[in-house]
Amino acid sequence: MFARFARPVVVDAGSGNAYLGFVLYELFFKSAGKGELWCLEARPELTQRAQSRAQTLGFDRMKFVTARVDDPQAWPERVNLLVALHACDTATDDALAAAIRHHADHVAVVPCCQAEVAAQLRERRAEVAPAMRELFAHPWHRREFGSHLTNVIRALVLESHGYQVTVTEFTGWEHSLKNELILGRRVHRESREAKARLDALLSETHVAPKLVRQLNPGPQQTEDGRR
Ligand SMILES: C[S@@+](CC[C@H](N)C(=O)[O-])C[C@H]1O[C@@H](n2cnc3c(N)ncnc32)[C@H](O)[C@@H]1O
Repeated sequence: MFARFARPVVVDAGSGNAYLGFVLYELFFKSAGKGELWCLEARPELTQRAQSRAQTLGFDRMKFVTARVDDPQAWPERVNLLVALHACDTATDDALAAAIRHHADHVAVVPCCQAEVAAQLRERRAEVAPAMRELFAHPWHRREFGSHLTNVIRALVLESHGYQVTVTEFTGWEHSLKNELILGRRVHRESREAKARLDALLSETHVAPKLVRQLNPGPQQTEDGRR
């Protein structure tokens, strides 16, 4: 990234105490002497604390913004890399939607717990084919399947917007149960073939997570994603 871009811009969405940002700055930004690292966080006390720590350390190319990830004003114009580590529930969708809109060159997200799609599966189970319904008949399975389905959809959305996607393990299970790392590198403008696969999955499962609603707002969908 530092070789490719004159002024690389990294955004950490849902940055919390900005621990990830501090590590990235120490390892890469400091010696590169260029680029900016933006930390977007909804809780002002976390932003303030991280900002004063950055001042103490002299990390002057770390920028701190107190805002919700879905606030378009919060984002820099150009994004080279989006990172989002355990951004809660649909905040990962907000981060991916913003990255796609800003044509981010790379994305790296480790999603957190996800509840939205499990609720949609429960509400719409009568519409789903009976054999498929068995995958989420029990609440525990619904939560796990909902979370898995959400991440599969996230990966397909990225692919359909021209990203080459890799899904892999983030760290050892002893460190985190939220352990799925979704990596994307923008290589095309779009992929119609991936969009067709995404649409087929959405119509089979009858869900519409926030990422899909944000990128395809349509009159046929209500606020909660019902088609
Ligand atoms: C589980 S913490 C992870 C923090 C940090 N990324 C880390 O790994 O240490 C999730 C953070 O995302 C923030 N967050 C959740 N939803 C958000 C949203 N919609 N916009 C901005 N920040 C959000 C929370 O306030 C919290 O600090």
